[in-house]
Amino acid sequence: MKIVVIGAGYVGITLSCLTEFGHEVTMLGRDKEKAARIARGVSPIYEPGLEEVLRAGIKKGLLKSTTDYSVVKDADVIFICVGTPSRDDGSIDLSQVETCSKSIGEQMRESGGYKVVVVKSTCLPGTTTDVVIPTVEKASGKKAGEDFGACMNPEFLREGSGVYDFMNPDKIVIGGIDSASQKVLSDLYSGFDQKFPRIFTDTNTAEMIKYGNNAMLATRISFMNELANICEHYHADVKEVSRAMGIDSRIGPKFLNAGAGFGGSCFPKDVKALISAAKKAGVKPSLLEEVMKINDSQPERMVDLAEKTIGDLTDKKVSILGLAFKSDTDDMRDSRSTVVIQSLLRKHAKVRAYDPKAMENARGMFDNMVTFCASKEECVKDADLVMVMTEWDEFKNMELSSINAPIIDGRRIIDPEKVAQRGLVYRGIGWKDNFRGGRP
Ligand code: UGA
Repeated sequence: MKIVVIGAGYVGITLSCLTEFGHEVTMLGRDKEKAARIARGVSPIYEPGLEEVLRAGIKKGLLKSTTDYSVVKDADVIFICVGTPSRDDGSIDLSQVETCSKSIGEQMRESGGYKVVVVKSTCLPGTTTDVVIPTVEKASGKKAGEDFGACMNPEFLREGSGVYDFMNPDKIVIGGIDSASQKVLSDLYSGFDQKFPRIFTDTNTAEMIKYGNNAMLATRISFMNELANICEHYHADVKEVSRAMGIDSRIGPKFLNAGAGFGGSCFPKDVKALISAAKKAGVKPSLLEEVMKINDSQPERMVDLAEKTIGDLTDKKVSILGLAFKSDTDDMRDSRSTVVIQSLLRKHAKVRAYDPKAMENARGMFDNMVTFCASKEECVKDADLVMVMTEWDEFKNMELSSINAPIIDGRRIIDPEKVAQRGLVYRGIGWKDNFRGGRP
């Protein structure tokens, strides 16, 4: 099939994986330089394995990249993958979705053939039917369900394992306005192993499935963080608690790690958008509001722990290991490390930082307020305190001989035996023995 993908963020660029199934994929965006880089096989984001997919697609002649909207005229399927950021009040900003729907419609006005417009951007229920379809209809002069099809096909990939997640989805959700639209998407995904369940539904339900998914995962994390805060008081260990809870097949082991909280471009934005949508619908989103409140307070708890461990932070050398919101990405959006660093700077600490991939992004944020180090060893040298903020393997397996300071681990990734051998203080949120003199 001929596919056009509008928006080359994480979700959009990962759709280049469809070339592996023989589809022709054209990435369409407004940024000429970015389009040229993609055409050369250079990924606009850091994502393991993605450049290999881009280059293989280009080599087979199946992957193209352009800024010319006329490619829509020839497409069978057009994916909308543009950003849906939060406004200041937490509500969702759909301006990019509207602009792109209008551009699609304008091209469809001048072309024939049945096409399916597919929304992949995370959008609140009703967006496909109340925003995308009317905009495309108005700009094209065509009728949805007759002249063209429309679907909502949410994406569940995680940054850092985007290619694997795309190729091995837990589910493929196909929300369509009619069975003809659903059939086109179903054919598009026919190369995927049949073991991945397909869920056929309407577009509103598909939109809500995405929010339900992210809000549930965020809730699990905040739930464990609240439990961790209680654990700490009673000298119970949240890691043992979560491990035991996860063994219960009704609960399962994933997304139960307590610590610095969730960041990234999705959970905070999506939970806020759902809160705002609930209020608009006259539903009081008490639970979701608490999920955000708990998450917002976790970085501050890390800084409290820092003060309880080494006292007043003024002029103390605090080394931050990890800036990205999670490992295997250079993405710093809503990263918990950003909030911790801002708080440390307010308390006049001297902050040094290192991240294997996110240094460039962090430099743009903190300019000369933070000393950026070339390696983790340089970062921790002569530190008064080391704080681990991202779960990179590089930190998990780190040689501790260069550390002579207490460690506060926001992700609980270092082997406690290794820390104990070095005689270092090792603390984190919700750990047993944080303040009983012993080591976890
Ligand atoms: C998340 C979802 O996991 C994806 O399914 C979804 O497609 C994506 O959002 C999206 O909507 O686009 P992502 O934001 O890439 O993916 O990252 P996650 O792996 O979910 O981690 C999010 C945050 O939660 C990270 O800051 C991570 O450190 C934190 N986290 C995760 C915890 O604090 N505890 C955990 O147990 C798990």
